[in-house]
Amino acid sequence: MTPAGVFAKKTVRDLTPANRRVLVRVDFNVPLKHGEVADDTRIVAALPTIRYLLEKQARVVLMSHLGRPDGKPDPKVGLRPVAARLERLLRQPVAFAPDCVGAEAEAEAAALAPGGVLLLENLRYHAEEEKNDAGFARRLAALGDCYVNDAFGTAHRAHASTEGVARVLKPAVAGFLMQRELDYLGRALDQPQRPFVAILGGAKISGKIDVLRVLLGKVDRLLIGGAMMFTFLKAQGKPTGRSLVEADRVGMAREILEQAGKGRVELLLPVDCVASATADGSAPGRVCRLEDLKPDEMGVDIGPETIQRFAAKLADARTVLWNGPMGIFEVPAFASGTEGVARALAEATGRGAVTVVGGGDSAAAVQEAGLTERVTHVSTGGGASLEFLEGKVLPGVAALDDRES
Ligand code: 3PG
Repeated sequence: MTPAGVFAKKTVRDLTPANRRVLVRVDFNVPLKHGEVADDTRIVAALPTIRYLLEKQARVVLMSHLGRPDGKPDPKVGLRPVAARLERLLRQPVAFAPDCVGAEAEAEAAALAPGGVLLLENLRYHAEEEKNDAGFARRLAALGDCYVNDAFGTAHRAHASTEGVARVLKPAVAGFLMQRELDYLGRALDQPQRPFVAILGGAKISGKIDVLRVLLGKVDRLLIGGAMMFTFLKAQGKPTGRSLVEADRVGMAREILEQAGKGRVELLLPVDCVASATADGSAPGRVCRLEDLKPDEMGVDIGPETIQRFAAKLADARTVLWNGPMGIFEVPAFASGTEGVARALAEATGRGAVTVVGGGDSAAAVQEAGLTERVTHVSTGGGASLEFLEGKVLPGVAALDDRES
């Protein structure tokens, strides 16, 4: 599958859903707090597909995982609170099945009226889900007459509800969220308007080696922040204090710097940082030039001059891709770099750039800054968007029906 492969896949628009039980895999893996949904972004993101099917008088059966309950029931990660939130968002009743397979779920699915919705309990209460067990996939398939995968956030997992079921329940098509995610991420990678700028952050290079390599072959500018910058700075022989350095990746960082130098990619590293004695905010931070980082300090955020330089590199950008925070943004005192980049992204969007945020922590940061509406696309997938950017095949997408050419 090419990154823009969803175009080769059928979508919900290819279905004739009226009166049919449509089994929809969604990613409702949302945070819960005090028994309620604490952030409904992923539920809201699935609404276009759900509403479309309801308007077409489908009988909609929704399934999802929540958390990692290890193959057995765990009331802490039950989906009932999600059903309650979905009812409020849809303004209609949502039936709930206390198990995702079996006689009760089948009876509930059969009893659905056209335009009705049923949510099944957590798929991961069964160990067979993550094992992509064929028998379990068939039990899920018994709940629908056709299958829609709208769970982009889980598309990198070859599980029974994402991969196995799509092999046995046909037609198997992509939902609108799945299509939108692959469309934006795929177009940014394959047909970017230039200048194309990527901003990479996060703690470690090791988790992002393949993304770095893919991006080096595609972008005009690569801006690097987050703790991973210190492995690069080490490779340049600069002081890193007690910052997180991946000693076994210094050689690789050196290679990447050389590769960028040889190609036409402008690779930018921070010039200043926020330094602190601790990572948890218990000690104060101070802004310093990177050369002035003391041996007992660690870098916990990029500094104000770096924020300005990064923002300047976005000034004429036409495509921007961002993945990974610039510092320990969970600690408010160390969040300025990440917020600054989020703002610069919003400003670039205002100037007409296509800006894509690659899920996970950076998506959370954009949301916390209240800027979600001011960037072009915020991915709902952390791991999935990373694997997509690495050029990997997403099993949940690969298993869907191909569009006839
Ligand atoms: C996510 O939150 O990234 C997805 O829902 C996948 O969850 P998982 O990492 O537990 O498979």
